Amino acid sequence: MFAHIDAYPGDPILSLNENFAQDPRQDKVNLTIGVCFDDEGRLPLMAAVREAEAALVADQGPRPYLPMAGIAGYRQAVQQLVFGENSPALAEGRVATIQTLGGSGALRVGADFLKRYFPEAQLWISDPSWDNHRVVFERAGFQVNSYPYYDDATGGLRFDAMIDALRQVPKRHVVLLHACCHNPTGVDLNEAQWREVIAVVKSRGLLPFVDMAYQGFGTGLQDDAFVIHELVREGVPCLVANSFSKNFSLYGERCGGLSVVCANAEEAGRVLGQLTGAVRANYSNPPTHGARIVGKVLTTPALRQSWEAELAAMRERIAAMRTAIHDNLQRVVGDADLSRYLAQRGMFTYTGLSAEQVDTLRTEHGVYLVRSGRMCVAGLNHGNVAVVAKAIAGVMSAKG
Ligand code: LMR
Repeated sequence: MFAHIDAYPGDPILSLNENFAQDPRQDKVNLTIGVCFDDEGRLPLMAAVREAEAALVADQGPRPYLPMAGIAGYRQAVQQLVFGENSPALAEGRVATIQTLGGSGALRVGADFLKRYFPEAQLWISDPSWDNHRVVFERAGFQVNSYPYYDDATGGLRFDAMIDALRQVPKRHVVLLHACCHNPTGVDLNEAQWREVIAVVKSRGLLPFVDMAYQGFGTGLQDDAFVIHELVREGVPCLVANSFSKNFSLYGERCGGLSVVCANAEEAGRVLGQLTGAVRANYSNPPTHGARIVGKVLTTPALRQSWEAELAAMRERIAAMRTAIHDNLQRVVGDADLSRYLAQRGMFTYTGLSAEQVDTLRTEHGVYLVRSGRMCVAGLNHGNVAVVAKAIAGVMSAKG
């Protein structure tokens, strides 16, 4: 019956992370998956999360099915965090938001919704983008195309080429944008560049789908959502996927949200209904535990303050690691241009290393990067950064 099933080639990020776990070497370093570790290399359990969870466990409430759209208080807290408390779109009741299984779940439900109501639309993603963007949308039946983004030569943005390409995208096609901390390159647009992109999106009648998986890891919670606030201000209908995996360090709880900004409250009601229908068709209704924690933290002032402070400390630690890897590399590779380590933002840096160099790093030094050359800077710490720099210098000089 299943003889025709071909082997799964694996996922470029998650499978590598599983291989890392199997590697018996004691001094191995995991710079693959987008997970934020502390300076001891441990996965943090945030203080606000611990406190909120203890209170929920003490409550020992029953576990009924949640509504298909998720917990009402959580959905409202998501809206305020993503769009800003004073967002006119929220005041007008024209944002439809559901609780989702992380950011990936939001992308998938959004893709199913779009495929049904925009059957002719194609998706446009940055070149490169997070590998799973293509996978999720192709599985939902989309043709996926790309627009220029990363400049290999400079480690920066090909902004003019990006704008030119977006000008050619047909009306009502979907354009995927990374709100902040671009995955995999760490290269973000500045505010003036976002305004230009939004002007093109608006004049061409394109539909932006903004993925915000790293809110709080760029500059700050609200600054990181600049493009979303600006889209709302410009009256551009859009979709937003957001995730609490990273900024709550709640990866396995699968907490996220999908929001659709509509023209008015009546339209938002219909859209919410169809998102709900897409959830029912996929997994019926979302799980309880993580969303209750996130909802409690976001809506309890003392917990919220503690969470924001700890998130700021995580952001600062990543920035410090960027400087540390830059300085360590400078010592060992001398004159190479390393400015990208400092200029790029968020968890990831595109190192410019080739797949073969990454393979050598893994096999000979136990240092794991994604084969695209993406390094998760948040996996560096004061104990491993010098070793990683030395290993990278080794593979760079072997090539030269
Ligand atoms: C990553 O890019 O490493 C993370 O977003 C984890 C994932 O699911 O790929």
